[in-house]
Amino acid sequence: MSRYRGITALVTGASRGIGTAYAHELAQRGANLVLLARSGEALRRVADEIRQAHQVDVIPVTADLAAPSGVTGLIAELDGQDLTVDLLVNNAGAGAVGPFLNSSLQRNVSSVELNITALMRLSHVLGGRMVARAHGGIINVASTAAFQSMPYQASYAATKAFVLSFTEALAEELRDTGVRVMAAHPGATDTGFFDGTSATMNPAFTDAPEGVAAKTLDAFAKGAVNAYPGRTITRAMTWAPRLLPRATVTRLTGRLNRSLGLHHAQDIDHPSR
Ligand SMILES: NC(=O)c1ccc[n+]([C@@H]2O[C@H](COP(=O)([O-])OP(=O)(O)OC[C@H]3O[C@@H](n4cnc5c(N)ncnc54)[C@H](OP(=O)(O)O)[C@@H]3O)[C@@H](O)[C@H]2O)c1
Repeated sequence: MSRYRGITALVTGASRGIGTAYAHELAQRGANLVLLARSGEALRRVADEIRQAHQVDVIPVTADLAAPSGVTGLIAELDGQDLTVDLLVNNAGAGAVGPFLNSSLQRNVSSVELNITALMRLSHVLGGRMVARAHGGIINVASTAAFQSMPYQASYAATKAFVLSFTEALAEELRDTGVRVMAAHPGATDTGFFDGTSATMNPAFTDAPEGVAAKTLDAFAKGAVNAYPGRTITRAMTWAPRLLPRATVTRLTGRLNRSLGLHHAQDIDHPSR
């Protein structure tokens, strides 16, 4: 899939952040949209803005993908409306921040359900349908966090390592089927990702979600298996873990995250342990 005009794209996590930017950028390129998130009102607002700006169909669907029924409910909704998804953008993601043992276990477990289980379920169901039609694409939003273990974001980085490994393997399995699979690895991006925690991002080191979305779609159209849609330094930082001993990289990452104050970060709006 090298063009977006006329396709139907499903974007998860489209109510804010990078997902909203994917939705706008896909609409700008002529794709019809199915947008998913838990917050119905925010999602409908995004859908209205896109309909006003572009001549595309936009269908908002509300579901909690971290819940066991989330993916089955979404698939039932797609089937009920006779919608065929050409491009799946597995963007919805979340993560705990701060020392693992001090963070909410529920937040950690939910992020595994969302970042891994739901992504895998959607890839299985919709990927299978795409292969049957010999047409389609899947973009899995991982992160530069996928390339090394990260003290104070331990489970989050581990979920993204899963997404990287899973995506590369699936892309190879589906070679020559007419279905392409790509992982996108944004660096720190200016969104509400840390909302609900005491952590903050330094605006001097974040990218804009709009640029991340545009670069991701450009890379997918060119046939990449991995995309690095952030500033150049974020890609360069994924090289160190491939060159240095893993223990050294983990020590350095721990030091970096301590310098960002993540060793003191904690949830502020989540049920505690
Ligand atoms: N921001 C960064 O620095 C950064 C860097 C690298 C990679 N990423 C990745 O980029 C993706 C988007 O991140 P973001 O920064 O845009 O995050 P965000 O601003 O927190 O947005 C997350 C989106 O996911 C949705 N979502 C969260 N939990 C959900 C659930 N259980 N079921 C369905 N939807 C859910 C949210 O909507 P509702 O709350 O309405 O459900 C929202 O639309 C994630 O996969 C993230 O890991 C982010």
